Amino acid sequence: MPEVSVDGRRISYLSGPDAVDASKLAIIMIHGSGGDGKDWSYQVEGLSGPFGVIAIDLPGHGGSEPPAETSVEAYAKRVEGFVRALGLSKVFLIGCSLGSAITQWLGLEKPEWLAGLGIVGGGARLKVLPAFLEGLAKGSENSLESFAGFAVSEGASEQVKGNVLEKLRSAPPGTLVGDLTACNEFDVLDRISAIDLPTCIVVGENDRLTPVKYSKFISDRVKGSQMSVVPNAGHLVMIEQPDEFNRIVAKFAVDMIN
Ligand code: COA
Repeated sequence: MPEVSVDGRRISYLSGPDAVDASKLAIIMIHGSGGDGKDWSYQVEGLSGPFGVIAIDLPGHGGSEPPAETSVEAYAKRVEGFVRALGLSKVFLIGCSLGSAITQWLGLEKPEWLAGLGIVGGGARLKVLPAFLEGLAKGSENSLESFAGFAVSEGASEQVKGNVLEKLRSAPPGTLVGDLTACNEFDVLDRISAIDLPTCIVVGENDRLTPVKYSKFISDRVKGSQMSVVPNAGHLVMIEQPDEFNRIVAKFAVDMIN
């Protein structure tokens, strides 16, 4: 996977061919807690061509150099450095879960270099069930399995369920807890209406970690946002229903640039 140096640290990413091309809209995707850029493999494959698509490995995830961060703001600053290091000026930034918190933070604090926001399995506040945080901090396998189970819908295939569990299990120790701590402390409920960017909100109808009402809360407050509820999908909607997800994002992106 290609790499770039951001503030002296190696950041790796997944990208389609000619991803950095000033003539195309750049789409940068940010994974959720304990994930990595490969969580967006279907999007990099399906949306590249008309768009320049890049999926970052956050610090300490996938091939990116540790340590991981433990706050949304710290991650957001790394993502901003990554965009600068690639020389991109206007970006459609899409994030899932923890990634959605990073996109919201940047949409509020650094809108200058953003063309639009994608909030996927998101929420303007992301409190984490204390039982997850405590169990994962103790290294409980039950908590890991339970959390992985909640990340997809009950109807997800065994392969998808297995892949999600394996991904979380293989994250470096402490990374998932650090990410969930960042989520737990994230709260822009009172500020979300200040986002003034084209905003595409996507949520799985069976999302058990960030229920549909969290997305509705954002869509009711962000002027001109568009919300899509995807059937037969849970929190990781881009993995469970990749074709429908890509269709929604591509349409939004085309409308945004026209
Ligand atoms: N958007 C809109 N409303 C929200 C919200 C959000 N992002 N986060 C919380 N709220 C609402 C809740 O719906 C609730 O409203 P209600 O009283 O009308 O039902 C109210 O704010 C208080 O919620 P909260 O502060 O979360 O406290 P709680 O005691 O109801 O629940 C948890 C705490 C952790 C049990 C709950 O947040 C939860 O189940 N979270 C999902 C599981 C999880 O761990 N997700 C991981 C996210 S990465």
